[in-house]
Amino acid sequence: MKDGALRTFDTVAGLRAVLDYERAGGRRVGVVPTMGYLHEGHGSLIEAAAAADDVVVTTIFVNPLQFAAGEDLAAYPRDLPRDSALAKRCGADVLFTPPVLEMYPEPVQTTVSVDGSVTERMEGASRPTHFAGVATVVAKLFSIAGPCRAYFGEKDWQQVTMVRRMARDLSMPVEVVGCPTIREHDGLALSSRNVYMTPAERAAAPVLYRALRAGAQAVRAGEGPASVVAGGMRCQIEAEPLAQLDYAEVADAVALAPVDELRGELRLLVAARFGRARLIDNIGVTAPV
Ligand code: PAJ
Repeated sequence: MKDGALRTFDTVAGLRAVLDYERAGGRRVGVVPTMGYLHEGHGSLIEAAAAADDVVVTTIFVNPLQFAAGEDLAAYPRDLPRDSALAKRCGADVLFTPPVLEMYPEPVQTTVSVDGSVTERMEGASRPTHFAGVATVVAKLFSIAGPCRAYFGEKDWQQVTMVRRMARDLSMPVEVVGCPTIREHDGLALSSRNVYMTPAERAAAPVLYRALRAGAQAVRAGEGPASVVAGGMRCQIEAEPLAQLDYAEVADAVALAPVDELRGELRLLVAARFGRARLIDNIGVTAPV
């Protein structure tokens, strides 16, 4: 299907038919779920899929189920022509852009939720309905796409960890691939929500990555316990007047359970508000043995 054309579908039946046809021809399918307003972070997932799979689908759907009342659903930025150009340039073959009524023709009565430490804390605590909304739409996208590899960014570490667990628990025929976080030169993780910031907030936002790096350095230096490392990150973010800290945590990288001792594969995770933008970021670090 690498003929250079980007084919756009906005119906479930249309996408299913083309992917069934491609798989019947022996071609492997890669899926990159997004909410659009694409940037180079999304682009890196599309490129990873294009390098590994024969047919690359980018889905663009601002999923109402994962926004709580009062969050930025209505304001979420959209630019389909620009998204199409970026997706095509990065190697997508198919764009799936279903309207809300195509994904949710009736009020949803079946939802998917992943319990346990992966979803309980951090984003799960701050946004109690968020992960069930994500799990439900991703389960639908997997069900529509069929057997595939699916690419998710480590920028949303809890999300990719949850999706991996869901696919395993429900025996979905999907291999979940995590991809590294793409950052601006000053360390700020690319995010569709970065456009919400004023220039002053944008200039302040790299404090998240600086705090994460300092936290990782403290872990490598054995400056535990974990509460001290988390406290250090918290102080650094709280010292920035334009940042309103939500959380700064040290967790086990896979179970995302809280840790006390600095041991094994850890993940440091932070969230803060800069004006209208709520930003999250994280970094991995291996504790010294
Ligand atoms: P969205 O925020 O559009 O992100 C789509 C994918 O791009 C996610 O897997 C996310 O982790 C990844 N991504 C975002 N910024 C990135 C960066 N700077 N570097 C690398 N990857 C990055 O996440 C969602 O949409 C939704 O929750 C979704 C999974 C599509 C379900 O609605």
